[in-house]
Amino acid sequence: MRVYLDHNATSPLRDEVVEAMLRVLRGVYGNPSSVHEEGRAARAALERARESAAALLGVEAREVLFTGGATEANNTVLLGALAIHPGAARHLVTSTVEHPSVEAPLEALERAGWRVTRVGVDSEGLLDLAQLEAALERDTALVSMLWANNETGVLQPMAQIAALAHDRGIPVHADATQAVGKIPVDLGEIPVDFVSLSAHKFNGPKGVGCLIARAASAIEPILRGGPQERGRRGGTENVAGIVGLGVACELARRELAARMRDYAALRDRLWDGIQAKIPAVRRNGSVEHLLPNTLNVEFEGAAGELLLQALDVEGVAVSSGAACHSGSIEPSRVLIAMGRSPEAARGSLRFSVGHGNDAGQIDYVLSLLPDRVARARQAVGA
Ligand SMILES: Cc1ncc(COP(=O)(O)O)c(C=O)c1O
Repeated sequence: MRVYLDHNATSPLRDEVVEAMLRVLRGVYGNPSSVHEEGRAARAALERARESAAALLGVEAREVLFTGGATEANNTVLLGALAIHPGAARHLVTSTVEHPSVEAPLEALERAGWRVTRVGVDSEGLLDLAQLEAALERDTALVSMLWANNETGVLQPMAQIAALAHDRGIPVHADATQAVGKIPVDLGEIPVDFVSLSAHKFNGPKGVGCLIARAASAIEPILRGGPQERGRRGGTENVAGIVGLGVACELARRELAARMRDYAALRDRLWDGIQAKIPAVRRNGSVEHLLPNTLNVEFEGAAGELLLQALDVEGVAVSSGAACHSGSIEPSRVLIAMGRSPEAARGSLRFSVGHGNDAGQIDYVLSLLPDRVARARQAVGA
């Protein structure tokens, strides 16, 4: 049996998504820019998906820009900022726990002369709002913050972040890639200006996402070409992928409350079992401000990578935040930013539940874990 507990890395496609995509791949092959019937059918499919994304996020359809995923959406916002102010390098504010698809374009901006302030987080992974307030300057062009952390599941106080920035007339971008489909992301309630998301994190296809751009005029395309997406993203649209995204959005909207309840129950069952059966364990990140599906645990003194591999052999897929750089394993940047030691970070694993998981699977994982953790601890001691 396989037990997939790595839904924050990517998630399985729902049957409804696959079926809708197959219908498009087989029958809706027109170019959405063409004026004939085939083109109009593809255009109509795109626009239906746009309405679905808009409804999930509480925005107008015209504020939804389709991209090739969240990486492109993040790059569009951040490098678009550079394009808007050519030659006038300014200041940006972000956090120390961003995804590489935000961090890397920010580093590119720094090389081009921009200043970037990275606001720290506390031991729970929560942003320091006083530090954020102090970081906002007269020439701050944008605040870019991760809504839900991919490694810990910690949720940042987006409403307060948006209020602090907006009070000073500064627009806000939220990378909501891990939040969409797992918690409410309603821009009617929390008025951020730009939001990035990716369909494959909530049971849609890979390689397609959205940038929600409320201040539509304030972005420059990074893909220049034809007039697609109202001139904001050139290139013939990935119609089947976008239709899949639309269906994933509809399912998320309908099922959100049930998902939140069911995922949290599975996550809590896992944590309760881990605590009951395994000594010297600790949860990483705020328990209160947390995605319902994510559990990040430090198994003190264990080699996380070995544990991950041992679980994989037994059919269980989980993740560690560690990254392999030139052959050596670097501990998670996010856990280090939260003040964990490199050893503690190396002994941590992320479990992320989602569609298809059930209590029996969690119990199976719990039946394996004590022995595998003991061995992963011995490996470090040896
Ligand atoms: C928080 C966050 N932002 C951005 C991305 C990038 O998404 P994609 O690889 O689909 O472009 C991910 C995916 O890992 C993520 O977790």
